[in-house]
Amino acid sequence: MALAANGPPNVNRIPAIPPTPAPPTWPTQTTKPTQTWDSFRQQMPICQRWAYFDHAAVGPIPQKAANALSLFAQQASLEGDFHWPSWSASANETRKFAAELLHASKEEIALVSNTTLGIHTIALAYPFKPSDSVVILKNEFPSNQIPWLNLRTAGVDVRIVEPNPDGSICIDRVLDAIDSTTRLVAISWVGYATGFRIDLASLVEQIHLRGAEVFLDAIQGLGVFPLNVSDIPVDYLAADGHKWLLGPEGAGILFIQKNHLNKLGPALCGWNSLQASHEFRMEGKGLKDSAARYEGGSLNHVGFAALKESLSLLLEHGCHDPASGFAERILHLTNYARERLRTAGASFPWFTPQAPEKLTSNASGILSFDFPDQNPQLLRKALIDAGIILSVRHGSLRIAIHAYNIEQEIDHLVDSIASIIRPTSIHFSPNPQP
Ligand SMILES: Cc1ncc(COP(=O)(O)O)c(C=O)c1O
Repeated sequence: MALAANGPPNVNRIPAIPPTPAPPTWPTQTTKPTQTWDSFRQQMPICQRWAYFDHAAVGPIPQKAANALSLFAQQASLEGDFHWPSWSASANETRKFAAELLHASKEEIALVSNTTLGIHTIALAYPFKPSDSVVILKNEFPSNQIPWLNLRTAGVDVRIVEPNPDGSICIDRVLDAIDSTTRLVAISWVGYATGFRIDLASLVEQIHLRGAEVFLDAIQGLGVFPLNVSDIPVDYLAADGHKWLLGPEGAGILFIQKNHLNKLGPALCGWNSLQASHEFRMEGKGLKDSAARYEGGSLNHVGFAALKESLSLLLEHGCHDPASGFAERILHLTNYARERLRTAGASFPWFTPQAPEKLTSNASGILSFDFPDQNPQLLRKALIDAGIILSVRHGSLRIAIHAYNIEQEIDHLVDSIASIIRPTSIHFSPNPQP
């Protein structure tokens, strides 16, 4: 009997979550929150326990994504593959939402296990010749270097462009590295440590004018900054869902602009790349006529069921729509954090954005900072005790703020740091309480 009809037995036997700090009690918002951000926040259970600023590492999942994981666990444990057709239909919906996010067509989306695999897929499937060149950046995340550097074994000239000392990217230097042999520039939308967000529209246009294509590692921007691939025609893009897209790890997307599909080879293809995939034989109609041919084998159905819910939540709140104010909210909160941290004595190791609350700036939701004479790892550990989650990257503390975060959480971060690094300062209050 179908699970949905009667409900499964023993559904509450989910292992208990180990104890974590007592839930913080947030004062009411000082600035009036809009209904949009309130309703978004209400769907993020993480807010009950933590001030969570780690979206550039691993994002928390919304309630409805958690429900999807539970449902899948019940179905798979009680009924095996009985529900497979509905899992497959659900993955198809995930593809549809991913396409909506990018203003792309569903046929341009492949579901992949992570960003790294998406990058490798294009690096391996692209018809490079030994005389070709590729341009990458020195301060890229390793996953956006290794697949391209690997091409050196096939005789491809991989050119590595130096960033500015402050971590910002000099677009002219990238463009200068391109010549008639250059097939592709592989670049991150947002730097994972620096938070530098490139001016994608102008970069893509300039690269195309020089006859090369663009691979975008979008994992640090997708879900919070709008991208319409009809207006900004990146050629290939990969992002896992586990950061700003608020999905689980190991469920990501690969976008391949439709005109490019047929020039790519069958790298990493398998049974699930075939049009008649369920005939399990090579004779037949050949490869799928869509990016899904790069899904290759069995899908992470449980992960994509959750990602579908995360995407639908983000889309409901307008993350893909420049008019929704979604990206501006992140830029505002990040700038609020920057200014509060600066006043508390922080310094910032990377570039200083101009007009940081504007979408046209190079700012993002990522902000690295230091406090003089403080060990960032020890500070991070002490902040966990205050109910705050963040990361350390390249020796600096790093926060990564989402649109459901609130100013009061940032106040709590700054006040907690102040009391950790200057524990006696409260004794010098100008108006001591009796
Ligand atoms: C810019 C960038 N690219 C790629 C990755 C790796 O992503 P994945 O684990 O999905 O392969 C990360 C992870 O932090 C990243 O920041």
